[in-house]
Amino acid sequence: MPDAQEFRDDYACLADFVEKALAEAFAVPGPHPAPLVAEAARYSLLAGGKRIRPVLALATARLLGCPPEAALPYASALEMIHTYSLIHDDLPCMDDDDFRRGRPTCHKVYGEAVAVLAGDALLNLAYETMARACLETADGARSVPGGIAGALRAQAEIARAAGHLGMVGGQTVDVAGEGRALDAASLEAMHRMKTGALLRAPAVAAAHLAGAPDAARDAVSRFASALGLAFQIKDDLLDVTAEAAEIGKTPGKDAKAGKTTFVTLFGADGASVRLAEESRRASEALDDLEREGFDPEFLRGLVRYQLERRK
Ligand code: IPE
Ligand code: IPE
Ligand code: MG
Ligand code: MG
Ligand code: MG
Repeated sequence: MPDAQEFRDDYACLADFVEKALAEAFAVPGPHPAPLVAEAARYSLLAGGKRIRPVLALATARLLGCPPEAALPYASALEMIHTYSLIHDDLPCMDDDDFRRGRPTCHKVYGEAVAVLAGDALLNLAYETMARACLETADGARSVPGGIAGALRAQAEIARAAGHLGMVGGQTVDVAGEGRALDAASLEAMHRMKTGALLRAPAVAAAHLAGAPDAARDAVSRFASALGLAFQIKDDLLDVTAEAAEIGKTPGKDAKAGKTTFVTLFGADGASVRLAEESRRASEALDDLEREGFDPEFLRGLVRYQLERRK
């Protein structure tokens, strides 16, 4: 089993790979015709997030037999969509947050209108990036084991997870529910949509790119669904236990906004128990993946990393 240092090095290497691609994302030949929106988008995109979604996409692709280079555009697109969701999540009409990724939020620096547009630009660039990657696969320039159908399925999976049945739907339930109590089932459903969907999508999209057998795709889907729910439970816990300097955002915001979270419903101890349960479910799905003949060691490290993270 690789040790913790090996896992960290591997994570850093995959994150760096996507970081370099994101740094180039808004490059155009010659001067930019609308530099303000590109600057605002880059301000949030290149502010040093954990990059867990693209790392998950690249690592899952690799373990299922698709070269990470071939999966890179989809990984970058996921981080663009995620960053857009954060910019909008922080707006005064949503969570009204002043800090994100250790710096003032996009709207604090560029104003609300430009922040909305920076989010829109990121979302559109994400789809353009994936569509161009699909075209390259159709032209034979970006070969993936799943072929052009796998590439299109990956794109569709990510689009669905970002939309009304995924992140956007979950965010809608979240803002509509502020100040009103949700029961446990509704809270879990909301978390699975607003955060879980965009953590499941990297793994399932990677399985499509890799043309993985159904049983393996099903196992990574179950793994990432559990990891995704665990991720938002951990986020709820950090909101009450972490310092601003650790998480790079203002803690204590959920209670202030009257949100139902795993902590308000079950207490910090109860939420930690659920976190451990979901982490165990994620690991059990990886046992199934191993039985299918794949080596999920890095993904096991990811379960531990997310369980223990302090940011
Ligand atoms: C924060 O996501 C918002 C949630 C979906 C819980 P991350 O914790 O992945 O934030 P970054 O990308 O590292 O900044
Ligand atoms: C946000 O959940 C999920 C998104 C889709 C962005 P939160 O509102 O709890 O995320 P943070 O705590 O602001 O990062
Ligand atoms: Mg929110
Ligand atoms: Mg928020
Ligand atoms: Mg939160």
